[in-house]
Amino acid sequence: KHALEPNHEATFAMVKPDGLKNLGGILELIENEGFVVSDAKMTLLSREHAALFYQEHDRRSFFGELLEYITSGPVVALELMRSNAVSEWRKLLGPTDAAKAIQDAPHSVRAKFGTDKTNNAAHGSDSPEAAARELNFFFGNDQNKSDRGAFPQSWA
Ligand code: PPS
Repeated sequence: KHALEPNHEATFAMVKPDGLKNLGGILELIENEGFVVSDAKMTLLSREHAALFYQEHDRRSFFGELLEYITSGPVVALELMRSNAVSEWRKLLGPTDAAKAIQDAPHSVRAKFGTDKTNNAAHGSDSPEAAARELNFFFGNDQNKSDRGAFPQSWA
């Protein structure tokens, strides 16, 4: 059981199609690092939504492959909270390339559950600004969440 720290920050995580079979294992790593999972949603992205979500990569050579992959099965979107959530989740994720993660960060999510640069188990926002944008992208239309970030201290 974890209590939310007073200085907690929110970040966005997404378990990708290849990570879904290890959802339990990924959540265990997340909880062991002191994150509170404060929102969650399983969804299948349309090609249009996927292109919008990854728009910063639209000129990269792998963009088509990335869209094909990310729409190939359901993803699980998560809102994670703890102190320094953005950087701590990126650290727990490990490098983009899971093969590199095995060398450089063997205890990371991508080392344990990923395969390569595309099939790398999960996504993490790379800045607080990206986290706000990505959380809004997946959870912004939800009712009863008017004060995102003010998750009750007593809940966790
Ligand atoms: S890089 O290599 O530093 O540019 O990668 P990064 O900017 O961290 O993220 C790129 C996202 O695209 C996904 N992807 C690939 N990256 C690099 N090479 C190939 N071939 C590739 N295919 C897909 C990669 O998993 C990153 O996804 P997210 O969801 O942002 O982690």
